[in-house]
Amino acid sequence: MTNNLLDNDFEKKIPVAAGMRTKYCGTISADDIDKEVVICGWVNSRREHGEHLAFLDIRDHTGVIQCVVDAKNVFRSETVVKIKARVRRRPEGTSNESLATGEVELFDCELTVLSEAAPLPFAIDGHHETDEQIRLRYRYLDLRRERMQYNLRLRAKVISAMRRAMEEEGFLEVETPLLWTPTPEGAREFAIPSRLQPGCFYVLPQSPQIAKQLLMVGGFDRYFQVARCLRDEDLRADRQFEFTQLDLEASFIDEEDIRSFVTKAVIDATTAATGEESLQDYLSEIPIFTWREAMERFGSDKPDLRIDTEIVDLGKGLEFTSFKAFQAESVKGLLVKKGACYSRSKLDQLIERAKALGAKGLVWMKVIPSSDDDEAATAGDISKGSKSLESPIVKFLSSEEVQYIIDSTSAEVNDLVLIMADSWKLASSVLGQLRIENCPSKESSKRFRFCWIKDFPMFEGLDEDGNLIAAHHPFTMPHEEDMDLMDRDPLRVRAKSYDLVLNGWELGSGSIRIHRSDIQAKVFTALGISEEEAEQRFGFLLKAFSYGAPPHGGFAIGIDRLVAILAGEDTIREVIAFPKTQSGTDLLTGAPKQISLKQLRELNISVKGK
Ligand code: AMO
Repeated sequence: MTNNLLDNDFEKKIPVAAGMRTKYCGTISADDIDKEVVICGWVNSRREHGEHLAFLDIRDHTGVIQCVVDAKNVFRSETVVKIKARVRRRPEGTSNESLATGEVELFDCELTVLSEAAPLPFAIDGHHETDEQIRLRYRYLDLRRERMQYNLRLRAKVISAMRRAMEEEGFLEVETPLLWTPTPEGAREFAIPSRLQPGCFYVLPQSPQIAKQLLMVGGFDRYFQVARCLRDEDLRADRQFEFTQLDLEASFIDEEDIRSFVTKAVIDATTAATGEESLQDYLSEIPIFTWREAMERFGSDKPDLRIDTEIVDLGKGLEFTSFKAFQAESVKGLLVKKGACYSRSKLDQLIERAKALGAKGLVWMKVIPSSDDDEAATAGDISKGSKSLESPIVKFLSSEEVQYIIDSTSAEVNDLVLIMADSWKLASSVLGQLRIENCPSKESSKRFRFCWIKDFPMFEGLDEDGNLIAAHHPFTMPHEEDMDLMDRDPLRVRAKSYDLVLNGWELGSGSIRIHRSDIQAKVFTALGISEEEAEQRFGFLLKAFSYGAPPHGGFAIGIDRLVAILAGEDTIREVIAFPKTQSGTDLLTGAPKQISLKQLRELNISVKGK
């Protein structure tokens, strides 16, 4: 363990050691030479130093300090000690530059053991990969490691910067209930039985969505909350049952206002987390794509802009092709730089992958130097200028079509072109996924590539009963100019909704809300929600809107996701103190567990088989 824990920001804020100690381990420096100090901490490591002496590295949350002690002092790692000692410069040639305290050491040590440690299930020093299951079972030990100390401090910094940003913009933090009622946000909800009203249940909020809209009706104008949200959904790297949002809502605003509030919050958070003010320049220009454009260019509504390659529409030049497989609603191409070296089996794998993603097939074309060799031409090459395409299907294309593909994809010798023809949506999304998996991201100083996606479709298809499914939630305002499509062609209606994306992760989303009951009724009808059902499920909200509701809109940023990306972690579990495993278990406490019959009886619940 090094002591990189003391980043600049933390060092500035570190309180003066008090209580049992006079100094923190990681803060002892040459300024303290000859002084007496009292430190407390964990035995990080022990090394023999000759026959009579030993080195103990003592660690606290600020770092480690080397102590020279009598060799008789033998402890297990992680024993908690208090040491009263004096500070001296380390002997010539023995200082350790990689350690903040590496110039000095403690000697003349008076040592008290405060709490002995049992043998450890894994080493804390962080140099070994430990199985995640074991780390989570002993999370309190895992939290002592530098990685977790760093991540949770980073998280606190991000949240604090966001709070500051919101307050600077005039937002007020208001807490909303956890014992709540079902809301129509799409995820499965956790239900909590009521003891006092047998057979009735509270529902844990998927987000404070409805509560924050009621706060707008309540006249608070600008609300925010660092809010815990709970959703009973399948867990993945970027999903937990419990997660935290920076949730906000504002009245009398439009989409651009919301984007600018959110942009300030994420830029301030990113700058605070990295300490790099220079990031402000490029971060403040976050590109905005419509959903349609993002799907066209990147095949995804959460494009990773660190990858330069874009999907190319080949429809125009192949409009009249005689090649049957290309006679589809949409023909799209993807350039894989230097991909011509892919082996046949790798190409087969690509085709299988495309099929697994829903494609009927995938065409590959290798760009090779043109050759006059007749043999090559009959084997399926068409030469054009200095480049040829090698592909099993090239013989079905005219030389103009081949040239068109080369030109449109800007393909060069040794590149690979992947082509898919299908419906617009499928061709875009399959190539979008292949783009992520096969196109390298550019080495760039721009590590954090945010983008906005707006104008999502209002509905994302039909459910099994033939009712439309809301793409965001049913309180999202449709575009005024698309209102007349609502009855005729609802799948073309665009919503006033927007997502923020960072490095290919959906970081947050929001929308302008419906505040008029006539529009709300239209949307409910489209979603197959009857008047009675609407009344029963959200009557309280509709009623609130009948007493004068301001036009309003909002957003929620997934804080766990933002912190994970800023910390360079692949999963949000690494930035949550006590996360659940993929199967929803808390390995530390053993939750979920059975509860006693007495508790069940009090809750008026009977469990089958009990
Ligand atoms: P949405 O459901 O898109 O919108 O959630 C907003 C953001 O919250 C994060 N998120 C999650 N993070 C971790 N684990 C999860 N299970 C999880 N689910 C969501 C994501 C996501 O982008 N009420 C609306 C916002 C609004 O319209 O104002 C909402 O919650 O980063």
